[in-house]
Amino acid sequence: MASNDHYMLYKGLLLPKIAHTEDSLKYFESFHVQDDDVFAVTYPKSGTTWMQEILPLLLNGGDLTPALTIPNWDRVPWLEESRAAGVMDKLSAPRAFVSHMLYHLMPPSFFSSKAKVIYVSRNPKDIVVSSFHFHQMANFLEDPGTFEEFADKFLAGNVIFGKWTDHVKSWKNTDLGDRILYITYEEMIQDLHGVLERMLSFLGKQMSKVTLKRMSEHCEFKTMKQNKMSNYSLVPQTVMDTKKSSFLRKGIAGDWKNYFSSELESKFNATIYEELKGTDIMFSWDE
Ligand code: A3P
Repeated sequence: MASNDHYMLYKGLLLPKIAHTEDSLKYFESFHVQDDDVFAVTYPKSGTTWMQEILPLLLNGGDLTPALTIPNWDRVPWLEESRAAGVMDKLSAPRAFVSHMLYHLMPPSFFSSKAKVIYVSRNPKDIVVSSFHFHQMANFLEDPGTFEEFADKFLAGNVIFGKWTDHVKSWKNTDLGDRILYITYEEMIQDLHGVLERMLSFLGKQMSKVTLKRMSEHCEFKTMKQNKMSNYSLVPQTVMDTKKSSFLRKGIAGDWKNYFSSELESKFNATIYEELKGTDIMFSWDE
């Protein structure tokens, strides 16, 4: 694993150079986390953008205005990214952030704060498929090669933010107690309304049934795909080429079945099972 034209190396993790600089990472490290901050933490392609849509609505009582007027990267900044510092003074409390960092790499003030975390995990087979298409359309990432080649890189952790198993293990073994809520992308697909209710209760917020219904419709894939503030269509084509793939691509669980050979499935399962051995992390591999 080494830095190159596309990537830099930060504490053992490959990060995309377009999104991070030494200054932005220093800013992240010394960031002052407040007690009422809320973080959505994800491994890339697990539902980060979805959470950027959901979190402000849960925190502001379901007012859709920010989701329709502010690009998601300014609305819910990706804390370790270079654009975060520039929008901080425009955020009002309670602030929402997204992060892909491993637990032990969070800023020191995060650990002494009471900030809450919603950790979203996704079937890693669907993550590989989503990430493969993202690498094809995002010109700031390395060409993924064939799907099999890319799946091998993913299993080896030679991808941005490192090994998926390290990420889930790191966030499953925390001292956060009731400051962390675990949800899965698949649960959100099956029952978004139910997951939103769990999130509301975790955040200590309430919402009328009518507002919650309107909010959950607003956060459906087909609606978000049309929302210019969330679908990344504001990003120039030279940076993300939507002729190759959309950022909001399919929005389903189980697309991996269209890409995995049975050999790759066996290798993938064996590797992931081995690396998660001894943990209580469960996934429904066949869905
Ligand atoms: P696919 O490529 O499988 O469609 P991230 O935001 O972490 O980069 O994750 C992107 C993935 O989340 C993409 O998956 C994208 O389509 C999916 N996604 C984003 N918003 C969604 C929504 N409202 N419903 C379902 N999936 C969504």
